[in-house]
Amino acid sequence: MPEGIRPGTFLQHGARRPERNAGAVVPPLYQTSTYHYPAAFSEAAGSGEVHLYTRMDNPTVEVAAELVRGLEGGEGARLFSSGMGAASTTLFALLKAGDEVVALEDLYGGTLDLFRETLPRFGVQVRWVTETARLDPSEVVTARTRVVWLETPSGPLLRVHDIRAWADAADRVGALLVVDSTFATPINQRPLAHGADLVIHSATKYLGGHSDLVAGALVGPSRILDRVDSVHATLGSALDPFAGFLLARGLRTLELRVARHNDNGRRIAQELGAHPSVDRVYYPGRTGPDDEAIASRQMTGRGGVLSLALKGGPAAAEKFLRNLRLVHVASSFGGVESLASLPRETSHRHLSDAELARREIPPGLVRLSLGIEDADDLLHDLTQALGRV
Ligand SMILES: Cc1ncc(COP(=O)(O)O)c(C=O)c1O
Repeated sequence: MPEGIRPGTFLQHGARRPERNAGAVVPPLYQTSTYHYPAAFSEAAGSGEVHLYTRMDNPTVEVAAELVRGLEGGEGARLFSSGMGAASTTLFALLKAGDEVVALEDLYGGTLDLFRETLPRFGVQVRWVTETARLDPSEVVTARTRVVWLETPSGPLLRVHDIRAWADAADRVGALLVVDSTFATPINQRPLAHGADLVIHSATKYLGGHSDLVAGALVGPSRILDRVDSVHATLGSALDPFAGFLLARGLRTLELRVARHNDNGRRIAQELGAHPSVDRVYYPGRTGPDDEAIASRQMTGRGGVLSLALKGGPAAAEKFLRNLRLVHVASSFGGVESLASLPRETSHRHLSDAELARREIPPGLVRLSLGIEDADDLLHDLTQALGRV
């Protein structure tokens, strides 16, 4: 972001290129797979003004990438066909057989599967760190570690992990720290400023913000993104231009939306914490004993996702979902409309009962993604549904 420009302003003006777009205020949708091929392509290619093929680059996708780059404060950004596309492409670009990855265990189920099922088939060794152990990062990361991967806040218990401590440990051995910051958004947390090498998002969530696209983002230094580029092209994980257009459009209101998500999250976490049917509310800063201290160091807002353990367990959770009138029962999070889901059936369906128990995830846990509706209306819906469990 240019010096002195704040996110809300950058999102309106940060990617404007009227000279390239017939003066259009809104960067247009280049829904094309290919481009006129200049006779001297290789000479023109370095200028950034010419394009070859949309699997490699597309001007609409570049607009959205530039907005994400500026928000995170990185040298460059790349967009992908999904958050999983961003994660898998990045890992395939950074790792080779024999390398070791240290992964903090409380990851989105799809990422967990990638580490557990896919990477070991290519000879990558994964060392798992249990989130409850709170180990000293420098004791976990070794000279063999190439990549350290963490999600903060993490689903479904909204734990927070100390980005600076893991970044220092990774730096000491020359490993790269990748932070999945999807739950936080760059409005609430900028991992690169806390020492992370790369930040990754499921842009399907808050960045897009309207539950109408699937996308992933990666931000970091050009020297690393250059390594990712060739794998991005060969794996074919490019973002479609129309999704890129929707993402750029959604991003323009990110700061406003996140302010409302933060307000709704804070208020509803507080009020539901006092409800007689609720055993526990999980919200960033409230899960583990050190979480508040870590969150206040690295986050400026806590977001709109919280999880609820109900006193009546799984049976009460199912009744609660059935009784909701406004809040949609659906997986995913980060959209303008509120959603409720049971992580054991959606994001964390990959975990066995034993794993859920070991990770202290209550069997009837409900995840709420609070949208931008009026907080009083949301509270009314949530409390009427809780009153009938
Ligand atoms: C924290 C987190 N990271 C990554 C992903 C994967 O993103 P996508 O669904 O866009 O592939 C998800 C999806 O739910 C997620 O919750």
